[in-house]
Amino acid sequence: MDSHTIPTDYSPAQDLLQDKVILITGAGDGIGRAAAESYAAHGATVVLLGRTVAKLEAVYDAIEAAGGAQPALFPMDLASATEADYANLAEAVAGTFGHLDGLLHNAGLLGERRPIASATWPAWAEVMQVNVNAQFLLSKALLPLLEQAPRASIVFTSSGVGRRGRAYWGAYAVSKFATEGLMQVLADELENTSRIRVNSLNPGATNTAMRRTAYPAETPTKNPSPAVIMPAYLYLMGDDSVGVTGQAVNAQS
Ligand SMILES: NC(=O)c1ccc[n+]([C@@H]2O[C@H](COP(=O)([O-])OP(=O)(O)OC[C@H]3O[C@@H](n4cnc5c(N)ncnc54)[C@H](OP(=O)(O)O)[C@@H]3O)[C@@H](O)[C@H]2O)c1
Repeated sequence: MDSHTIPTDYSPAQDLLQDKVILITGAGDGIGRAAAESYAAHGATVVLLGRTVAKLEAVYDAIEAAGGAQPALFPMDLASATEADYANLAEAVAGTFGHLDGLLHNAGLLGERRPIASATWPAWAEVMQVNVNAQFLLSKALLPLLEQAPRASIVFTSSGVGRRGRAYWGAYAVSKFATEGLMQVLADELENTSRIRVNSLNPGATNTAMRRTAYPAETPTKNPSPAVIMPAYLYLMGDDSVGVTGQAVNAQS
């Protein structure tokens, strides 16, 4: 797998994302919320997609209170969304903005943590739907709008267990391997024909609800807060990473 290291002294310009329109999935909580707020603070207009309206509204309010550009809200449950829902979303983004500069696939489900031998099909299927199939459907629906941008970036969210499998991580680990595969295939398809770069980002252990669920015995504050890992999220979304594509990137060293 090709991997890319972000310059250790990377310091994003305050206007890095000025005039860019960026859609973030799972924008209501954890890393997605931090990315939405950070992108807005660096000049972007953000499109907030998630399944819990109250959480999206809280992020919307925080961005407006901080002086960011007015966000757009798109409540959507990625476990049940249909192709028609993705088409409606693309139409709404086209109608409001006409193009899209960035797409952060961040929403994710942890699912069951148990051996493959006792994993249940409904839980397996839901994780694959949210963590993999939704990324395919959303990417496909939004590619025409990303093609309209001068330099667009798609960032997929991976995990350590998406680069090396580990016992009991089940569908989650398999979904992250599939995410890496989708990233590589799409990057290769777009490399010579398009201005869209495509990479995957492993946030590393980060203090969010998902991490606390996965490691209940761990002291949560031992891991960085989502805000701390934002330089990598900014780097991949902003023009400083133009030319970087098909790479598996780590947000933490
Ligand atoms: N935290 C870590 O240590 C870590 C490490 C490696 C990789 N990651 C990855 O980083 C990404 C963000 O994780 P996180 O730690 O920030 O987790 P989180 O706090 O649990 O946030 C996950 C987000 O995904 C949304 N989501 C889940 N299912 C959804 C669905 N069916 N439809 C729409 N949105 C849905 C959640 O919405 P609600 O809040 O409304 O439920 C939430 O906003 C995930 O892809 C995760 O796999 C995290």
